[in-house]
Amino acid sequence: MSAPDSDLFFTSDAADDAAGADRAPRRPADDGPSASTTVTARVPAKVNVQLSVGGLRPDGFHDLANVFLAVGLYDEITVTPTAPTEGPRITCSGPDTHHVPLDRSNLALRAVDALALRHGISPDVHVHIDKDIPVAGGMAGGSADAAGALLACDTLWGTRTPREELLAICAELGSDVPFSLVGGAALGRGRGEVLTPLEVGGTFHWVFAVADGGLSTPAVYRECDRLRERRGTGSGVGDVPEPEASPVLLAALRSGDPHLLAANLSNDLQPAAVSLLPSLGDTLAAGREAGALAALVSGSGPTCAFLAEDAASASDIAVALRDADVCRDARTATSPAEGATVIRAEV
Ligand code: C5P
Repeated sequence: MSAPDSDLFFTSDAADDAAGADRAPRRPADDGPSASTTVTARVPAKVNVQLSVGGLRPDGFHDLANVFLAVGLYDEITVTPTAPTEGPRITCSGPDTHHVPLDRSNLALRAVDALALRHGISPDVHVHIDKDIPVAGGMAGGSADAAGALLACDTLWGTRTPREELLAICAELGSDVPFSLVGGAALGRGRGEVLTPLEVGGTFHWVFAVADGGLSTPAVYRECDRLRERRGTGSGVGDVPEPEASPVLLAALRSGDPHLLAANLSNDLQPAAVSLLPSLGDTLAAGREAGALAALVSGSGPTCAFLAEDAASASDIAVALRDADVCRDARTATSPAEGATVIRAEV
């Protein structure tokens, strides 16, 4: 299934506004001032407990059966108005700041632009990202920032965009962005953006081993295709079976039993991530030796995720991973976690 066409969700007024280049951009105050001058949204990271990758589609994406689980590592996105017509600007704080692009290529600014265009207003806003989610780590940090900026600006501007439209804008921005808005657990079909919420029956305890660099998501998908070609199976839509959610994996999520979940975790991108960064093999092995119930690469990597029996075991695994010197840092977190949420709105 292809990405939803966000134009389908535009009201005719908004579409006219978006198309009306000769019209002066409106300020949010034209619609009645918002009560807030600063809004902060908190958005979780994610891990994929199943990532089944279908064949390469003609549009360059792969169909997925992508079981997302939100985990309690968060970025906080704060938006504050700038002077009229100044346009958007972006700053970032946190240990990974130097890896975050601070220009219009940042997904959070693209989200701001998309929402402003949708409502025909000028995106005069300062976006500050307080970053705790590893950058380029396969934990949807960039997607989280986009979803957070969207939600925070919608609150700041008082634009009250219907949820369906916010989700459509998210899907335009990237395959993982809708899940960052929704959180919890969900099955992503299509390229990952068509979501069905899933039930989770308990709290799962994770350790995340953060690698020293990042991996580019397109490069990992390309490597997955290359490995499939090399095996002789082909990498196109007709060559690879259509991905399906695993019923036992979904039952494991519902049960809340970490042993059942551990036995059914899977990630089709893992061989590709390990092929591009072979040291990930050592990281995964170190976590298993330290008592993890299961180890897998998170999404396109290079962050490695370890499922632990309980909170005490997760702490022990984190200490062992740090001691083994197989990662830059090891973080513990639980799932599921709430999706993008406004946590502060100050006047
Ligand atoms: O949607 P997003 O911008 O996050 O995707 C980044 C890249 O990851 C795409 O350009 C594509 O190369 C790859 N991708 C894919 N199939 C998906 C999702 C992403 O091939 N379902």
